[in-house]
Amino acid sequence: MAIPHNDVPSATRLGTAPSPAELSPAERLSVDELRAHQLERLRWTLRHAYENVPLYRRKFDEAGVHPDDCTDLADLAKFPVTTKDDLRKTYPFGMFAVPRERVRRIHASSGTTGKPTVVGYTEADIDTWATLIARSIFAAGGRPGHKVHIAYGYGLFTGGLGAHYGAEKLGCTVIPASGGMTARQVQLINDLQPEIIMVTPSYLLTLIDEFERQGIDPRSTSLRVGILGAEPWTERMRAEIEERLDLDAVDIYGLSEVMGPGVAQECVETKDGLHVWEDHFYPEVIDPVEGTVLPDGETGELLLTSLTKEALPIIRYRTRDLTALRPGTARPAYRRMDKITGRSDDLIILRGVNVFPTQIEKIVLDTAGLSPHFQLRLSRKDRRDQLTVVVEARADASADRRAVAATEVATRIKDGIGVTVDVEVVDPETVERSVGKFRRVIDRRPSD
Ligand code: DLL
Repeated sequence: MAIPHNDVPSATRLGTAPSPAELSPAERLSVDELRAHQLERLRWTLRHAYENVPLYRRKFDEAGVHPDDCTDLADLAKFPVTTKDDLRKTYPFGMFAVPRERVRRIHASSGTTGKPTVVGYTEADIDTWATLIARSIFAAGGRPGHKVHIAYGYGLFTGGLGAHYGAEKLGCTVIPASGGMTARQVQLINDLQPEIIMVTPSYLLTLIDEFERQGIDPRSTSLRVGILGAEPWTERMRAEIEERLDLDAVDIYGLSEVMGPGVAQECVETKDGLHVWEDHFYPEVIDPVEGTVLPDGETGELLLTSLTKEALPIIRYRTRDLTALRPGTARPAYRRMDKITGRSDDLIILRGVNVFPTQIEKIVLDTAGLSPHFQLRLSRKDRRDQLTVVVEARADASADRRAVAATEVATRIKDGIGVTVDVEVVDPETVERSVGKFRRVIDRRPSD
């Protein structure tokens, strides 16, 4: 789908809503038109999967459903879900629905245990992906001619190359920095003056610190928009990043099994959650325990179904990500999803109480004297699980302030979340720094 190539707007125009004429034709659809597209594409996807992927055929047959049973979008709920385990069982190419020769690219997600998950794209899939990233960058405020610094990792991870093809497609000048070599990233930003940075929020914090270390005021850089994703981050973190860098920070979501980044994007003019690009993906939210579909507005686990993918059609993929769907705003036909509060895998159940790292992030950032650099360490003592929040003091925090901050964090966690934790406030520069996706939780509990 063609993205309109407009004149390069001045940086002051960033953040203002584009006129309807500037949107891609798909973004101008009415809800009814979009739903009709979705149904047609869903029926194609179900047939494509059933006819070409033995695993789907077997699962549909076992569940007693056939692609012809889908005559309404709500019928999708009758079809079985797909899990990461299905991809593992068919490793590496068993879920591909096209001959391997038609697959132009492979990506893989590392996976914490066992084999990685391998995903593939046809030429058309790569083009769709690039178009969706182009739409995402546009929604974030980027325009043709802008310079985009990409600090997502390049390689098997979908972040770097996914962002790269999309930024080129929009007509931007791409700086493919990849992750790591932090001092050089800062030099590149200083010298090449990009308006846009695409990076994980945790690595952006590392870059901000590096600017300061080199004696450069981060607010004085050329960066105007940060397109941040690949890990959960809170509104409080947005405020911290926007204040320290003087830019607009917006959220981008995606996962390799479904495509990569660009499944959903927050619009800069509203910053109110992420519009799911529903012309290519159909979202549902389910109760993670019962598996039943929840109405829009209720929080549960996000399920995604691809509507146009050729190489790897994915039906009702259980993302493990927790969110709620809401009506569209800046792109009215496209539903929004709330910022992800966490993955069900990240959930820490501490003595029966559910704790998400994002809840602790908010408390840490709301406490004077503390930096946003923290890790959660789980250990076991006398058969009881213990959680220690290890958080760096800000450079200007006095010894007294540090002690008070530790008590404040512990009290707020006890009052707000309902668990007792230990809090260690440590010296600046002592908590591990992110170079990509940050490992927030370190689990040192014995595995018995
Ligand atoms: O992280 C794709 C990506 C790259 C998205 C760059 C955005 C930017 P995976 O490595 O397969 O793919 O990891 C996917 O990361 O299920 C979420 O748990 C988490 N995630 C991705 N984006 C966000 C976000 C990429 N904006 C997993 N907010 C997903 C919270 C996110 N979590």
